[in-house]
Amino acid sequence: YTNSKINIAIDGPAGAGKSTVARMVAGKLGYVYVDTGAMYRAVTLRMLELGIPPENEDKVLQVARDMVIELKPGEEGQKVLLDGKDVTEQIRSTGINANVSRYAQIEGLRALMVSLQRQMALRKGVVMDGRDIGTTVLPTAEVKVFMTAAVEERARRRFQEMKDPESTSLEQLTRDIAERDRLDAEREVSPLRQASDAVLLDTTRMTISEVSEAIVSLCEAYGMER
Ligand code: DC
Repeated sequence: YTNSKINIAIDGPAGAGKSTVARMVAGKLGYVYVDTGAMYRAVTLRMLELGIPPENEDKVLQVARDMVIELKPGEEGQKVLLDGKDVTEQIRSTGINANVSRYAQIEGLRALMVSLQRQMALRKGVVMDGRDIGTTVLPTAEVKVFMTAAVEERARRRFQEMKDPESTSLEQLTRDIAERDRLDAEREVSPLRQASDAVLLDTTRMTISEVSEAIVSLCEAYGMER
């Protein structure tokens, strides 16, 4: 896959399997994977560390403008560096999960993240996942996918990959995910919605490799060269 690189946008709700699939597709194509959720998570981590609440938008923006967020491919998946420090594990904590959507609603912060994300995609050959990639960040992406799965199935997948499953129950997790879906879909700035030209992939009954193959096929159908 050398010539005529394209950009691939993958959006969808929490737990649809976007990041696993996006990473696999990037690996198959030799493309760069960009996890935009990790960027909002890194911002949230810094704000919690400094005790800056999402209501203080000016301060959030001022601090966010000076942060350096790096996404680096590593042996075991992507590493997230915040001002040079590895925060890969830290940004997956329950504290971040519970607060990230509040910061992700700030319009100015989103504008800043979107401009960083667009820069990362300028040279093409990017697989980017998030909530607003096909609609806002890369509206001209050559391939757009909107991945969903039944909420119960998404909860089941999350439950299986949890490091501390005894801290919750499958029922609770299902309710949490349904609530996050609601917040992400109902917010005013860049709500989660399918781009009109995105391909809908319901992955409830598909394996990760079936989903990745389906996306690679879409790229080939678009005319990406082998
Ligand atoms: O995909 P994730 O769970 O790592 O995303 C974390 C949060 O960030 C989630 O609440 C949605 C938000 N997000 C967003 O608003 N826009 C994006 N492009 C990516 C994530």
